[in-house]
Amino acid sequence: MATPSTMKKIARLPNHLAIIMDGNGRWAKQHGLLRLEGHQAGAENIRPIIKCLNQHHIKYVTLYGFSTENWNRPEDEVTGLLHLFEESIDKYLSELHENGIKFRHLGHLEELPQGLQLAINRAIGLTKNNTGMTLSFALNYGGRLEILDAVRHIVAEGIPTQNINERLFNSYLYTAGLPDVDLVIRTSGEFRISNFLMWQAAYSEYYFTEVLWPDFTQKELEKVLLAYSQRQRRFGRL
Ligand code: IPE
Ligand code: IPE
Ligand code: MG
Repeated sequence: MATPSTMKKIARLPNHLAIIMDGNGRWAKQHGLLRLEGHQAGAENIRPIIKCLNQHHIKYVTLYGFSTENWNRPEDEVTGLLHLFEESIDKYLSELHENGIKFRHLGHLEELPQGLQLAINRAIGLTKNNTGMTLSFALNYGGRLEILDAVRHIVAEGIPTQNINERLFNSYLYTAGLPDVDLVIRTSGEFRISNFLMWQAAYSEYYFTEVLWPDFTQKELEKVLLAYSQRQRRFGRL
């Protein structure tokens, strides 16, 4: 278990960390298990990672759990996966709340199963006044859809074109109020962003690891944080 004292050696931590939790299916295959069992293992890995990030006072954490493209998977996998999210939220909600974590959802709620919608809304409602980590779950999230949704709202409200700037646009995204992403981690050796936070992570650092999500330990996480602290971020300057 990582302790805050080990973290003191890391000079600069990300304010907003986002994770593409990928590789559950391949993990299951490696272990001769069903894909859904891989998703189960992946869901169980969320708690220790959040716990570690919270101990290190990372203020904003965003997890990619289900993309708008993931509806194209077999129906039983989709149903099972979404059910797992519902169970996990219910199981860990009181612990999140006790730790002062504020829960947010990024994406379209309405297409999700009723039970999951209720669990998400319960979590948002219970934790809305918490002032610790903001934990955003991207479920039924698509970066392009998010941008289109923002454009639709801006047009529908008749906002004058001269008022449309980055600040205003930010306030129409699902992530309104959240800071830009500093670091995106993707597990499982894929080198792509798969429609995740394209606007918010425009200047993010990226870290790709071969480790599959269910095997991504606190130790791996610390390795990533250390690597991040050594990156030089220039934002176009010298
Ligand atoms: C990540 O694991 C979970 C979701 C995308 C929902 P995958 O299910 O994508 O695992 P692989 O990529 O098939 O190994
Ligand atoms: C991205 O993983 C989405 C999530 C982790 C939720 P995918 O496994 O769906 O991405 P692709 O299909 O390999 O790009
Ligand atoms: Mg995948």
